[in-house]
Amino acid sequence: MQARPISVLLSARQIHARVETLAGEIAAALPPDPFIVSLLRGSFVFTADLIRALHGRGMRPQIDFLTLGSYGQGDRSSGTVTLHRALTDEVTGRDVLLVDDILESGRTLHFARELIVGLGAKSVRVCVLLEKPGKNGTNVKADFVGFQIPDKFVVGYGLDYANYYRELPFIGVVDQVE
Ligand code: IMP
Ligand code: MG
Repeated sequence: MQARPISVLLSARQIHARVETLAGEIAAALPPDPFIVSLLRGSFVFTADLIRALHGRGMRPQIDFLTLGSYGQGDRSSGTVTLHRALTDEVTGRDVLLVDDILESGRTLHFARELIVGLGAKSVRVCVLLEKPGKNGTNVKADFVGFQIPDKFVVGYGLDYANYYRELPFIGVVDQVE
């Protein structure tokens, strides 16, 4: 795919500063040893930075990954969430922090939360780096939100367009993709 121009929405410096304060909010609200469930693929960069910021707040999280899919090749959601890879470890009785890149329709997080509740987690809290307001048709509320962003398709810092642009250190808007 041909590279397209990207306009910066959130700089690496802004993201770093917000991840640090988010870690403080999480450390104040959760026990020091939560079980983090990071939703792949979009949240791997955010999770990697967040857990190191949590370390700085004295936390000792354990980490597992859940791979879900709803978007197809581009920027349109198929509307159905599918499980591509399950958790490896037991979440029964654990205080879970679900981490995702972005909360849009809420379908992905709704699916993940139901799955984790069904596995017997003691509590489930939700942390997202980004939230697009007004599009959430589910009852999923994020307990911790990095940034509210406008209703634009964004990439970078783990978020993709057709699996490209995840490597960008900032979050940007792809020109001509709405
Ligand atoms: P939801 O299920 O509609 O809440 O969408 C959440 C999932 O869709 C996220 O985990 C992302 O992977 C993807 N997604 C939603 N909006 C964007 C975007 O603007 N850029 C890249 N991925 C997005
Ligand atoms: Mg995702």
